[in-house]
Amino acid sequence: MEKFENLFLNKTPIWFMRQAGRYLPEYRKLRDQKGSFLNLCFDPKAAADVSLQPLRRFDIDFIILFSDILVIPLALGQKLEFIENEGPILGDLPCINKLIDCDLNVCIQTISQVFETIEILEGKKQQKKLIGFCGGPFTVMNYMIERGTSKTHQKILKFIREYPKRSERLLKVIQEISLLYLLRQIKSGVDLIKIFDSWAGILSKKEYEKYVIKPSVYINEKLKQRYPSIPRICFPRGSGKNIISFIDQVDCNVLAVDEKYPQQLKEIARKKNIILQGNLNPTILAEGGERMKRKIKQILFDFKKNKHIFNLSHGVLPNTPIVNVSTAIEIVREYESNKRTS
Ligand code: CP3
Repeated sequence: MEKFENLFLNKTPIWFMRQAGRYLPEYRKLRDQKGSFLNLCFDPKAAADVSLQPLRRFDIDFIILFSDILVIPLALGQKLEFIENEGPILGDLPCINKLIDCDLNVCIQTISQVFETIEILEGKKQQKKLIGFCGGPFTVMNYMIERGTSKTHQKILKFIREYPKRSERLLKVIQEISLLYLLRQIKSGVDLIKIFDSWAGILSKKEYEKYVIKPSVYINEKLKQRYPSIPRICFPRGSGKNIISFIDQVDCNVLAVDEKYPQQLKEIARKKNIILQGNLNPTILAEGGERMKRKIKQILFDFKKNKHIFNLSHGVLPNTPIVNVSTAIEIVREYESNKRTS
């Protein structure tokens, strides 16, 4: 942990969610060459190259493994396809009773290309930190039940409310395989891990405790026991006020926030020595100009008493001009150097 803390001496480290992606022509070229997004994810050399693409352009501090949270349903035997301009489409949900009896280490082995990507990056990352990741168990379960992206989340909400026992069993399987997956990523060479719980915000307070906090406590505890020096970033997106219960109970090192978080969170994070990460709206990054400048300065001011990693509240949008990303980074760096001299 010592070295990670040093990153914050006079510095606001920077990275962007989806920093490798469709807004970069070199990404689009490689994806087209490989035929599909998933082919790219499962080609270790290409995936490692894509992970490094944003670092060749920008002065950023972290590399994020190029993959997707939905490789977990795939490892559990659920079909997965990404349709251009539509997103993921998943096949039938595997039988939950059968999943319970599966050897999850064998399942993980079916996506072992991810670990080869990490091994390649391990040799190329130089002084940069490499972030590995998985989805929050509830978010992964959401995609498995909805079988794709959903606006209403009707199926998942119906599922957990009508079949609480089945839901719990499925959640446990996902929790267990996600933990194994992260442990293997760490063994392969990642320096930090991030858990993306993108749909934490659709649940009631009680459901949030059961489906977001409980699995997060479990995964963070187990990782901390095995690898205490690997920092853990949690991102329970859309949590609103529930994020206070989250920070109370989940032992993470970094808490990523979206734009709507309660003000007292900053003080709690300071007391618990938890770093905050966030939270520029990607639409503002895509727009650029004065509004972006103002917003970034405001964010840096808002988090100035906290240890802070500059990031977005969601992924970089495909229509983002590349120059806006470099301008955003310059603004953060300029603020840092003013901080040092003042
Ligand atoms: O951040 C990075 O640069 C690392 C790679 C990464 C991707 N997805 C690549 C990707 C990471 C960390 C993710 C996480 C992910 N994947 C999440 C959690 C964060 C979030 O966005 O809420 C979720 C929910 C997914 C599932 C997913 N993957 C969806 C719903 C979609 C379709 C929507 C879209 O933006 O196209 C994807 C596709 C995806 N994952 C792309 C990339 C670069 C675009 C694929 C393409 O090239 O067409």
